[in-house]
Amino acid sequence: MTKARILVLISGGGSNLQTLIDASHTTDCAYEIVHVISNRPEAYGLTRAEQAHIPARCLDHKAFKDRSLFDAALAQMIDEVSPDLIVYAGFMRIMGAEFVSRYEGRMINIHPSLLPNFPGLHTHARALEAGVTIHGCTVHWVTAGVDEGAIIGQAAVPILPGDTPDDLAARVLVQEHRLYPACVQAVASGRAKLVDGRTVLDGKPGGLALLG
Ligand code: GRF
Repeated sequence: MTKARILVLISGGGSNLQTLIDASHTTDCAYEIVHVISNRPEAYGLTRAEQAHIPARCLDHKAFKDRSLFDAALAQMIDEVSPDLIVYAGFMRIMGAEFVSRYEGRMINIHPSLLPNFPGLHTHARALEAGVTIHGCTVHWVTAGVDEGAIIGQAAVPILPGDTPDDLAARVLVQEHRLYPACVQAVASGRAKLVDGRTVLDGKPGGLALLG
């Protein structure tokens, strides 16, 4: 089985990257992580990649005068590796439309809310503020609209009375670590595809759902 070659983009601690690395060592895994790039030199995820003997580099966005120059430099780095799939794992940079359209249909992200609710930042505090009782995380295709791409999979968690944003973040992160390897495997194996702006799983419109 030819494994899909995956490039992972990170900005921080890399706990999602670590779950993808661990899952890549399982027998029927359909992907291999061939490269990791961070836009922050201090990202601990770079250390996780080095410990897993995966080539890793930093392209510090602060070194670029404007966003389009950073986007172009990152695209050049990615094209040198020419991955089958680009995976955002805590990559906190909003990329321009030209960059996104270049990789549309082979670039995915994980977001800590049940989209379309609470796109953007501070999702846990906003969920508590809104008084919803079910929360979770979403894996979606990256499109020009931030956190707007078609959904590939979701995992739900309860919000318990008295929860703080930190309680929620910890409970959701556990589900992220289940959902992301499952979704990356589905895309890498060809089960999940982006077709006319919608996710198709095993030939039918729809995606993965993890409950509890
Ligand atoms: C995760 O909660 C992810 O949903 C969000 O950023 C956080 C990154 O965590 N985009 P990590 O760097 O993978 O530990």
